This record gives sequence, C-alpha cells and structure tokens, in this order.
Amino acid sequence: MSTSDQFLKQQNEYIGLVDEIMQVRKRGERPLAYIRTYGCQQNVADSETIKGMLAQMGYDFTENIEEADFILFNTCAVREHAEDRVFGNVGAIKKLKKNHPTTLIALCGCMMEQQHIAQRIYQSFPFVGLVFGTHCLHKFPQLLYQSLLTGKRQFILNNDDLLVYEGMPKRRDGQFKGWLPIMYGCDNFCTYCIVPYVRGRERSRESKYVLKEARQLIESGYKDITLLGQNVNSYGKGLDENITFSRLLKMIDEIDGDYTLRFMTSHPKDCTKELIDTIAQSRHISTHLHLPFQSGSNRILKLMNRRYTREKYLDIVNYAKEKIPGLSLTSDIIVGFPGETEEDFEQTLSLVEEVGFTSLFTFIYSKRVGTPAAKMDDPTTAEEKSERFQRLLKLQEKVAAERCKSMVGTTQRVLFEEKSKKPGILNARTSGNIVVEAEADESNIGSFGNVAITEAGNWILKGKII
Ligand code: SAH
Ligand code: SF4
Ligand code: F3S
Repeated sequence: MSTSDQFLKQQNEYIGLVDEIMQVRKRGERPLAYIRTYGCQQNVADSETIKGMLAQMGYDFTENIEEADFILFNTCAVREHAEDRVFGNVGAIKKLKKNHPTTLIALCGCMMEQQHIAQRIYQSFPFVGLVFGTHCLHKFPQLLYQSLLTGKRQFILNNDDLLVYEGMPKRRDGQFKGWLPIMYGCDNFCTYCIVPYVRGRERSRESKYVLKEARQLIESGYKDITLLGQNVNSYGKGLDENITFSRLLKMIDEIDGDYTLRFMTSHPKDCTKELIDTIAQSRHISTHLHLPFQSGSNRILKLMNRRYTREKYLDIVNYAKEKIPGLSLTSDIIVGFPGETEEDFEQTLSLVEEVGFTSLFTFIYSKRVGTPAAKMDDPTTAEEKSERFQRLLKLQEKVAAERCKSMVGTTQRVLFEEKSKKPGILNARTSGNIVVEAEADESNIGSFGNVAITEAGNWILKGKII
C-alpha cells in the first residue's frame, strides 16, 4: 500500500470517529455545516472535497450560518481585498459563537499558509478553533476529530507534504458543470504572486486518475468539464509517465459523450502550437482560450518574471485565431505593477485592442508580503493607477461590445444553465464562454441546444432556441 493510500485509510477511521461523536452529541440528528469559499476554482474544488468528507462524517449542509454546528471559510490570498473580506466576515461571526458556544469555527485555504495571517487570526479572533493550510486538506477528518474531542484550538500550517492524494471523497456543487483538478501548486514565481508560496511546488495527478474522474463525470451526465491547474500547460512535469498536457487532452477528448471540455489556466510561455492544433482537431474542447498576458509591455513582463514577450504572445494568439474558427480569447491583466509608466500602460491598451478579447479580468496590483515585487519601487500614486484602470475598463467595454455585435445573426451551440430572473428566459453559455439570454423552455436546463443570436449587449448575447 502506498503512503498516500495508508494515510487515507487512517483518515477514513477518523471519519467514522467524528460521525460517532456527532451522533452522540446531536442524539441521532444530523449536524449542520456551513462552508463559504473565496478565490479561484482551485478553492472551489477543494471545498467540494471537504464537503465530501463532511458528508461521510454524517454532516448535512446549510446556507444559514446561524444554525450551523461547523462553520468553515476557505480563504484566498491573491489580493489584499480578498483577505480584507475574510477578516471582515470572520469578525462578523463573533456574536454568533457567543449565542452558540458549541459551534466550531474553522478557517482554511491559501491565506492560512501565511504565518503572519495565522498569527493575526490567533491573536485577534480567539473564537476561531481550527486553522489549516492548503497542504493539510487530506488531514481534515483527523483535525476535525481532534478539535471536537479536545475542544482545544489547533493551528496547522506550513506543512510541506507534497504527495498527491487520490481517492478523497467529493460532493460536487454543480449537477452538470464539474471541476477536475489535474495538478496542484505552481513553480513559476511571477514576482507579484503569492500562489507558489501558499500552494507549494507544482505536482501533477497521474493521467489514469484524471481519466477515471473524467469518465465518471461524463457517465453521470456532466456536460461542462473544466480541467484545473495554475499552469495546465506544464502538466506532467515530474510524473514517471511520458505525458504532456496536449496528450492528456487528446486522451480525454477520445471519451465518447455529449460534453464540452475546458481548461484553466494556460500560461503563455508554455502554450505551444501543438496545444492549439489539439484544440482545433478535438471533438469536445471548447473554442475558448483563457490566456492571461498581465501586461503589454516587455519591460514590465520581464519585471514580472513572466518569461514571454508581447511578440511571442501575439504570435501564439494569431496562430490560435487562424486555426480555431470563432475562437474566444480572455485574459487577466494587472494595472499599476511597481514602476509601470504611462508608456507601459499604453502598451497594455494597444494589446487589448489588437487581440479583441471577449472579456477580461482586470486587477489593480496588490502588494503581497514575501513576494519580490513587494520590495520594488512603486512611485505611481493610487489615483493614477485607478485612472488607468478605468481607461482599461472603458476600452474593454468597447472591444467586447464590438465582438458581441459581430455574432448577431449567427447560430450558437449553447449549454442551457439556469432560469434567468426575466420570465421565459434561460441563461446559457456558448462554447466560447459567452453568456446568452435565450428564449427557451425550462426543460432545456442541463442540455445543449442551438440558439439564433438576435441581439448583443456589451458582454452578453440575446437569442432564441431553434
Ligand atoms: N495561474 C494563473 C493565475 C492565478 S491568480 C495564471 O498565471 O494566469 C489569478 C490572477 O490574479 C492573475 O492572473 C493575476 O492577473 C492576478 N493577480 C495575481 N497576483 C496579483 C497581485 N499581487 N495583484 C493583483 N493581481 C494579481
Ligand atoms: Fe501566480 Fe504566475 Fe503561478 Fe499564475 S503562473 S499562479 S500568476 S506565479
Ligand atoms: Fe486565491 Fe489560492 Fe486561488 S490565493 S486565487 S484561492 S490558489
């Protein structure tokens, strides 16, 4: 038995023990858990694993925090704003603990892997009973058991366990949209980014486990599957098998079924023409490429340690546009990186205009303790950064509106996702990840259909089912 198998066997014993404790405490009633997830899809996927473990331990789930026996915030450290929200929300539940002294309040996720944050929680929030970092996810049953048994505060972080644990349970949030992590961590150390410090070194799941999970998802009716990793293009590094991301995509794509395959995030430095050809030749891969460029200035890209140039980015984007008809491109951009000048910023604007993105995720640079960029000179004022940010939003609005307008009169294959607030309308999504408000019957939710696009807004399309 491998180390990780042995470990999970032991955790299964803790799952049984927690179940017993809670049965006695609640006299057979199921205890209730409230889970709030911040941050990216990686955190969403981790929360699905935690929920899977809790369900095995006899917990039910509630959206009402007031009635929960166990409260968990799965946190994100990527920007200061994300951390401030967590501190605010944790402060707000102090009263709740007073009214329900037996409720266990726990914090996990990326923020908790930072020593200074854990210390602040320890000192300022004495009602928080359990804190554990991203490397301890697999130990959650044991940690919960120890907390319930002893009632003592536990702060477990900076554990450098880098094994990949297979076979953990999962309780998925969606019924037809599923997340499938293929790798964990990041080795890129972009100078602004905290992720490599809080998620640890890059490690890939063996392809047989990824394929098994993909098959299970497809067989149980999942229609939209997203492969997850901080840099999916370097999938396979360090595995004994000889495999690349393109090869993994091809293997999944060979599975028959009615589904769309997506992935995020691609790093431009590792995005190869082979990957683009794989997408172009596939049966199931979406025509959406999320390829964050962060800045259009080569000088800033160098300072960011992104290891590609504007020219290399445009080269791969133009190749992709040529090979994948109807390709929808999206990106992440940071405004106001330390030392960014007006000229650098204009390079970002011109790249946005040249590529014609469907949508953008734009962020004002946020200083992260312990990253190299935190020590760089940053003479640009917050007002200037905010003014640049507004200019970028305005330009993107124009670019996205043009792109949406160009789709009026076309027919798009969409997945119908949910009822809209508007009567008789469903929210649907194209392969390129554009939202369509479609006139269609509710019975279509969870299946694919064709929609004639009749109108375009700035970010969304409108249409009617054919
Ligand atoms: N691995 C992904 C990104 C994960 S973080 C990639 O490399 O593309 C998501 C986005 O948050 C990043 O693309 C970046 O645009 C933004 N981001 C990360 N650190 C940031 C910081 N310190 N300040 C502002 N934005 C940041
Ligand atoms: Fe952060 Fe860069 Fe890794 Fe993305 S690739 S997670 S931006 S260090
Ligand atoms: Fe945030 Fe951690 Fe994701 S820092 S963006 S939740 S990897």
